[in-house]
Amino acid sequence: MLTIVIPTFNERANIAELLRRIEAVVDVDVDDTEVLFVDDSTDDTEAVIHDLAFVMRLPIRVIHRALAINGLSGAVTLGLRASRGTWCIVMDGDLQHPPEMIPSLLATARSSAADVVVASRYRRGGSADGLNGFVRHASSSIATALTRSMFPRRLRDCSDPMTGFFLFRREAVDLDALKPRGFKILLEILARNRLTVVEESFSFGARTGGTSKASLHQGWQFLVQLAALRFGRLSRFATIGAVGAMANIGLMAAFIGGGMEYLQAASIAAILTILGNFALQEKLVFADLRAEGKSFRRRFAFSIGFNAAEAAARLPLLWLIVDLLHVPSLLAQGATLVLAFLARFVFHARVVYRPRREHKLSENREPSQLMGHGSTEPGMVTSTQVRPNRAS
Ligand code: GDD
Ligand code: MN
Repeated sequence: MLTIVIPTFNERANIAELLRRIEAVVDVDVDDTEVLFVDDSTDDTEAVIHDLAFVMRLPIRVIHRALAINGLSGAVTLGLRASRGTWCIVMDGDLQHPPEMIPSLLATARSSAADVVVASRYRRGGSADGLNGFVRHASSSIATALTRSMFPRRLRDCSDPMTGFFLFRREAVDLDALKPRGFKILLEILARNRLTVVEESFSFGARTGGTSKASLHQGWQFLVQLAALRFGRLSRFATIGAVGAMANIGLMAAFIGGGMEYLQAASIAAILTILGNFALQEKLVFADLRAEGKSFRRRFAFSIGFNAAEAAARLPLLWLIVDLLHVPSLLAQGATLVLAFLARFVFHARVVYRPRREHKLSENREPSQLMGHGSTEPGMVTSTQVRPNRAS
């Protein structure tokens, strides 16, 4: 069986033609095919789909989410979890992905041993002309090059990890391992699984009805996704620490340049850096755990408290190591800094952002959310529960 998962956000103008064209190429009697829309629309797209479902021969399902958690990727992940096919196709609902390719994607999958068949814009014969504007073109190409060099092995055979049009063997992908974010769900799938990939080129058509939801925010989400995939939490934490150290020195220099006395400059720079670090760490390192743990005020107090205690403890510790263990002072300083960094990370992950216990959280959750253990999806249809992803 084949499930075609189509995320939609205000696509009422495109659904009828999309379904007509799918039905024209899929042999409903021979190929066991279902279409599954995951709709976050604020217009009547869902009603349009319902009306069409009556007159089409294809089996059509629609999941409407009251809360568009994790946007496009969240919608696709939910659709994949709810899919029944051995094969899943993901495609856009705005006709920029030609449904006419469905049979050949499926045929390629069946004839090759591949887990994934990617419809690529960047393979010879393909084109990304449907991207409007130089900026979209350039950023797509740069992002693709960067991403491929960051995942040289897993993306070896994929020229277009950012495409939203692909087919895969459902059992080859661990859906629970995905951390949906932004627009780039294929990247998430390829980076977190070991899969064999083959490609087919295609021309990304121009959008006719409705408007694109791509935005600067999506670009930002993409960078965060890359960082999460490649580095994980510890490295994000380390990066912020390094940036903080440089900011500290920069600020101190600026204050001294402005005529301030150096001790005062150092203290003010330290305070500003600590506040800045805290803000970045909230946003970039532990964002997914914030909602489940302590209140903002308590997180702030614990975090700042730890920094103060750590600063105070470091000197006596240094003295201890140098004087009692006779370790050279610079080496000892290096060791205490590394130790302090690791302690800081562990303390933040285990104490400051520690999620509350699972059973307490579960009390006000819908039954469906309790079932799929390890699932990162909030309820299917009209759940009001907001529960961000739990990353490792
Ligand atoms: N359910 C849901 N929720 N669907 C969404 C959301 C959302 O928050 N945001 C967008 N969609 C749907 C749109 O309705 C459309 O069917 C599809 O996802 C793609 O959205 P577009 O807004 O048309 O994106 P695009 O054309 O700029 O981006 C496409 O090309 C990119 C490559 O440049 C997508 O295929 C991207 O995945 C792809 O990376
Ligand atoms: Mn589009």
